[in-house]
Amino acid sequence: MTPLALRLLLAPRRAGALLHTSPPAADPGVLACRLASRAVVRFAGPEAGRFLRSLLTNDLLSSSSQGRYSPTPNAPARAPPPAYAALLTPQGRFLYDLFLYRPAPRSQMLDRTGSAPQTGERPKGNQDEDEEPGEVLADVDAAEVDELLASFKRYRLRNKVEIDNVSKDFLCWQRFGRNVEHTGPSTQEPEAQSIGWGQGVDRAAESAAQGNGHGWEWFKDPRLDCLGYRGIFPADTIPPLVESEKEADERHYLLWRIENGVAEGSTEIPKGEAIPLEYNFAGLNAISFEKGCYIGQELIARTHHRGVIRKRLMPLIFVDENGQELEQAVAPGSEVVDKESGKKIGTVNTALGSRGMGLLRLEEALKQNSSLAIKDNRDVRVKAIKPDWWPAEWTQVLEQQSAVA
Ligand SMILES: *[C@@H]1O[C@H](CO)[C@@H](O)[C@H](O)[C@H]1NC(C)=O
Ligand SMILES: *[C@@H]1O[C@H](CO)[C@@H](O)[C@H](O)[C@H]1NC(C)=O
Repeated sequence: MTPLALRLLLAPRRAGALLHTSPPAADPGVLACRLASRAVVRFAGPEAGRFLRSLLTNDLLSSSSQGRYSPTPNAPARAPPPAYAALLTPQGRFLYDLFLYRPAPRSQMLDRTGSAPQTGERPKGNQDEDEEPGEVLADVDAAEVDELLASFKRYRLRNKVEIDNVSKDFLCWQRFGRNVEHTGPSTQEPEAQSIGWGQGVDRAAESAAQGNGHGWEWFKDPRLDCLGYRGIFPADTIPPLVESEKEADERHYLLWRIENGVAEGSTEIPKGEAIPLEYNFAGLNAISFEKGCYIGQELIARTHHRGVIRKRLMPLIFVDENGQELEQAVAPGSEVVDKESGKKIGTVNTALGSRGMGLLRLEEALKQNSSLAIKDNRDVRVKAIKPDWWPAEWTQVLEQQSAVA
């Protein structure tokens, strides 16, 4: 992929302020990426739900996603929306992130002939939203599947849960783009939801042909609306809405996340080290502050209640002294320093072209006249961006402090 192709996606919301390069020629529209960086693990058995709840930072049905979907009878399978969650160390450091998908309740599924069960008919033994799921599929970091399986199996003890790598059968996908919120399946109108299976076609037949009864569909990304849609689909199908010409290299998705300051997986979020709240996990709906105990909860609760988080993961742009973007100039691990004092402000942890993400001290990074540079390469200036999705309270206190100072 050429830098130009990358730049097509960059059209930043604050282009005028940030880019001295000319605006992109065309909006590439909505893109879909098959995520080779992610694998699929299945948790199955009567105690799968309870098991995951006792370990992870979030509930299977995250509070933020509740109410975003209302399954309608006779529509094709409407699975509950996925939840984003993490497994932490007992000390509260990040280990793995997981997108958890529960299968559609049986009462919502179509049978092989493509007809839904009678409304009101709830055959015994069928699970519903509040019932325990007998199966959960998790979208996880592909580079960590081995160790992730071993970790969960260590915690399994006498729980009746089977844990398997099912990456041969399933793939993870993401659909995103500047206008995806307006072109994607609406979460408000049941009519529009059917777009996922082809508008104006025989939906029942189409669903059956896709091997429905499983509820494969796109869901709003449980982290942020601006990230678009995510889904797990059978490995031998192309998901609905993915037109061949719009299937893009996965680096486009990485760039999209970098621009929004959202890290994913155990490389970008250093395993065993990262403090989840500094990686903005509370804002990404990965943590339930209401749920019962889980591993590492003590540190999360303590950090949360103490209030101000002084370091956070932020999007970065690497430029020269004239503000021109510098491609391939910075490697992950580079230190970000104050250009005048040489004081360390943070560390770059992901870089792609002229963009990156880094964990920075907010007070210095957001200071009006801060001039940041890369240590040992002070010709590279660093612009730290505050993402639009950040809640105001994350920076209010710090901004007041630096205004007074
Ligand atoms: C998981 O399954 C995929 C597909 O079969 C395979 O390529 C991969 O090596 C497996 N990973 C582990 C850790 O078993
Ligand atoms: C920032 O720099 C400008 C000009 O370089 C100066 O006029 C202004 O007072 C500075 N602001 C702060 C808060 O230091």
